[in-house]
Parts: sequence; C-alpha cells; structure tokens
Amino acid sequence: MKEMIRNYEDVLDMLDSLLREPAEFWNGFYNDREKGVPFFENIPDENLVGYFKNGWLRPRRVLELGCGPGRNAIYLAKQGCQVDAVDLSEESLKWAHERARAEEVDIHFMNENLFELNVEPSTYDLVYDSGCFHHIAPHRRMDYIKLLKKALIPGGFYGLTCFKEKGEYGGADISDWEVYRSRSLLGGLGYSERKLREIFSGFSSREIREMEDRRQTSNVFGVPGLLTALFQKEI
Ligand SMILES: C[S@@+](CC[C@H](N)C(=O)[O-])C[C@H]1O[C@@H](n2cnc3c(N)ncnc32)[C@H](O)[C@@H]1O
Repeated sequence: MKEMIRNYEDVLDMLDSLLREPAEFWNGFYNDREKGVPFFENIPDENLVGYFKNGWLRPRRVLELGCGPGRNAIYLAKQGCQVDAVDLSEESLKWAHERARAEEVDIHFMNENLFELNVEPSTYDLVYDSGCFHHIAPHRRMDYIKLLKKALIPGGFYGLTCFKEKGEYGGADISDWEVYRSRSLLGGLGYSERKLREIFSGFSSREIREMEDRRQTSNVFGVPGLLTALFQKEI
C-alpha cells in the first residue's frame, strides 16, 4: 500500500522522499560540460596519485562510487587496475564512456544508484569515492558502510575525498537532524577529521588530511576545502 511504513527500507524511502531526487539533479548538472566546474577537468585526485606513488596502494580490482565523468576511474585503469565504476547519472556516464574510449582504457561503467548495487562479497582491493559521499543523506550512511564492508577484501582500502565543513566549494556545517528539518543537504555535507573517524570507526585510518592546493599544476586535481582520507578494512 502506498505510503505505508512496514519495514526499515520503507523508512529509508520515506526519508529519501523529503530530499531532492538525485538522478534528475545530476543529469541536469552534467548538461553543460563547459560550465567551469573544477572536477570537470580530466585529471585524477592528487591524493589518489600519491597513494600509488608512495606505494600504499597496488590494487587489482577497484570499485569507484559516484564516478561522474570518470577522471579517477580512467587513472586507475591506466595503473593496470580492473575498474568497476558506478554513477546514477546517465549523462555523466555518457561523458565517461567518451573519455574512456578516447584514452583507450577499458572500464566497466554501471548506471545505477550505489544502494542498488549487487556486489559479490570480498571482491575489491580498493573502493574509491571522490565527491559522492558528501551527497549521501545521513539515513543512508549505514547502508553505505555496509556496502564498503561487503565489497572490500579483508585488508582492502577505502579512499575518500569530501567537503570539509565550510569549505571553499561547499560543505554544510549542520547536524544530521538539521538535514531533515531543512529538507536539504544544502549542496553537500561538510565533514571534519573527527566526524570521519567516528563514521568510519569500523576501519583503521591510514591518513586523513586536507587536499593539497594543486590548482597551479596541470596533471592532478587538488583544491582547498576538501578532506582526503584513506581507511583500511580489518584483516
Ligand atoms: C560531485 S560529483 C563527483 C564526480 C566524480 N567522482 C568526480 O570527482 O569527478 C558526485 C557524483 O556522485 C553521483 N552520485 C550521487 N549519489 C549517488 C548514488 N546514490 N549512487 C550513485 N552515484 C551517485 C552523482 O551522479 C555525481 O556524478
């Protein structure tokens, strides 16, 4: 029956309905590729490149959550990883496919909501998320963490780039409860090192730091106002 709450999933769906419909929003967002959004440039995150350079990561299978037009997925594929990349925006994946073809890399893109992904348990050495997690509503975080734990092998890594509170490009400094009072994530939630440690307390942390400002460099993405983190699932 419509609008009846029978189980936990119904509660989550009801809370989703208080917030904006994500696929519609993101498809509109990617309509204009020329609008000067910093992450539209086809270059990988400076922290991700750093993890490879300093030898922390040598993943074989990678899952990217909210891959957008594919800049990090493409970098990962070029490092020899087998990459599965998911995004709910069809528009972003059209662009990602074009880029991957132009760069001659093979990536398995999936046009799905990450909460509907059916992953095989203990499959990935790395799950990476750049800029998707801060758009996830608080009531969906538990399922997000469940997905990470299921998807990763024991000892596998989870890499994250997200808004810091009151960052230059966004990062609402509001409580989880306030999201539902204002019926909005206010363009993306801001996090602090403390909040990230609390949310991902089931993982050990390898590094949490501010993203380096690399706007003067042309080959990596690095802007102020973001936090980067690398967590590891227990062995
Ligand atoms: C800020 S963009 C970042 C895109 C890309 N990671 C990058 O850095 O270039 C956030 C992306 O997350 C995607 N997204 C948001 N919620 C999602 C969900 N529940 N499932 C899958 N993708 C999602 C959006 O469609 C969007 O492409």
